[in-house]
Amino acid sequence: MNKSDVSRSGKPAVVAHRGASGELAEHTAAAYDLALSQGADGLECDVRLTADAELVCIHDRTIERTSDGVGVVSEMTLAQLRDHDFGSWHESGESASVLTLRDLLTLTLDWHRPVRLFIETKHPVRFGSLVETKLLEMLHEFGVASPPSADHSRAVVISFSAAGVWRVRRTAPMLPTILLGDTARIIGGTAATAVGATGVGPSIETLRLHPELVDRAAAAGRVTYAWTCDAQPDVQLCADLGVRWVATNYPARVRDWLVTV
Ligand code: G3P
Ligand code: CA
Repeated sequence: MNKSDVSRSGKPAVVAHRGASGELAEHTAAAYDLALSQGADGLECDVRLTADAELVCIHDRTIERTSDGVGVVSEMTLAQLRDHDFGSWHESGESASVLTLRDLLTLTLDWHRPVRLFIETKHPVRFGSLVETKLLEMLHEFGVASPPSADHSRAVVISFSAAGVWRVRRTAPMLPTILLGDTARIIGGTAATAVGATGVGPSIETLRLHPELVDRAAAAGRVTYAWTCDAQPDVQLCADLGVRWVATNYPARVRDWLVTV
């Protein structure tokens, strides 16, 4: 296997969903560090724009659930977000500052083995094309916007937004993209074809009902990324079906389970 290919051949590769977020506060440097030390092949993060057009790794529209503050991410500046603690809400109790995409790219690319970063754009159409513009600028700056092939890319842009995926494909055609979702057009593959996505990303609930979509995607040259797989039978199903990437909140457990499949 080529050393730059971050997946292990034949089995799904493990993506740490929001970091090792089953153990530590999601989207914190500590949660990503833990996932890396547990051997994750990839890291997943959600990104949103702040009021001053910085990309930060926060899942929700507001900061109430994951910080000690209140407010809408897109109405706050990065400096305002930095005033809050994004770790102490979690039972692990470790305080943490807001994580920027820049922080996470640095952490990922500095790791001693190649790890892939799955960057999910949240509701990008609300901002015209500013999310994609800022994201691609940053990927260019880090030298990862034009990989030699999708298989050797260190970054993958994922989104529920077909328009968002299409804008990335148009501007950075070598960058792999995954269209997330559970609609009939995702299951049938027509949505991914329409926007040129290199992969499809159903939930594990959809995959249980429509296992045939993995073969259908493969026949069209697309990989499948399944989320969020925290139970052993689901991981086994993904392995049996030939799913390429499994996103989990517990990367250490999933890696252990995959040893025996
Ligand atoms: O990795 C895809 C998955 O994260 C999509 O759902 O709500 O966790 O962002 P959500
Ligand atoms: Ca996500």
